Amino acid sequence: MKVVLLGGTSGMGRSIARILAERGDSTFLLGIPQTDLDASAADLTARSPKHEATGTALCDLEKPDTFAPALDAAEAALGGLDAVIVTAALFATQDQLEADIELTRRLVTVNYANTVVFCEHARKRLLAKGGGKLVVFSSVAGERGRKPVAIYGSSKAGITRYLEAMDHKFHAEGLRVLTVKPGFVKTGMTAGVKPPPFAGEPDQVAREVVAAMDAGKTVLYTPGMWALVMLVIRWLPRFVMRKIGF
Ligand SMILES: NC(=O)c1ccc[n+]([C@@H]2O[C@H](COP(=O)([O-])OP(=O)(O)OC[C@H]3O[C@@H](n4cnc5c(N)ncnc54)[C@H](OP(=O)(O)O)[C@@H]3O)[C@@H](O)[C@H]2O)c1
Repeated sequence: MKVVLLGGTSGMGRSIARILAERGDSTFLLGIPQTDLDASAADLTARSPKHEATGTALCDLEKPDTFAPALDAAEAALGGLDAVIVTAALFATQDQLEADIELTRRLVTVNYANTVVFCEHARKRLLAKGGGKLVVFSSVAGERGRKPVAIYGSSKAGITRYLEAMDHKFHAEGLRVLTVKPGFVKTGMTAGVKPPPFAGEPDQVAREVVAAMDAGKTVLYTPGMWALVMLVIRWLPRFVMRKIGF
């Protein structure tokens, strides 16, 4: 596959990029800053069975004018596009967001509005060639309105609904949309937050994401235990959600 990754320089995105490079897929990294892109590209090139060079292009989710040129550069370098994977996003605690409205504006813009805009650029390019895979990281935080992740969760709820609708609207034209809903995973994003009982590791999540992508799944809860947790949470009455701290 010819795969573009936005966010492949760290955390779960880096683990996914490594699996793809190691099995011989062609990879291209989008993100910021250039130094991180260069280091990750060298790592992927070394892991590729034929030492195929991984290309890079700057793409800042806070700057929508970088999206089209970055995807154009990726498509030209790869000679096409089979899959676009988006793991990049911002996270901040509810306390940080409530104390800083500018941070709230940035987070909801990056995680929802600008991610939708990026996906629209990607979707058009995939459909122009008859289809392909669009894999985007949402979160279990978007399943219900929850006190500890009220604002971050709302940005993920928005992206979840957008992706569901993209699947409904463009499946017949060949677009395969996978919405990834991780539970708590130990990455740089969650450093400093106390891990809950079912905390996952990035490599474990990456294996599950690649398997789901290959199988053409539409939604993945990962690690799998979170599917059960969210089954319960989805059905809790509102007055219970108001009382509990979850
Ligand atoms: N970790 C969890 O428990 C968890 C749970 C549920 C969902 N998720 C979601 O899973 C995805 C991957 O998260 P992760 O845990 O692997 O965290 P991560 O390692 O921090 O990955 C996030 C990536 O987003 C990039 N990024 C941030 N702002 C950007 C911008 N303006 N432009 C381009 N790239 C930007 C970061 O780049 P820099 O390193 O340069 O900042 C980083 O590479 C995210 O969508 C996250 O919301 C995570």
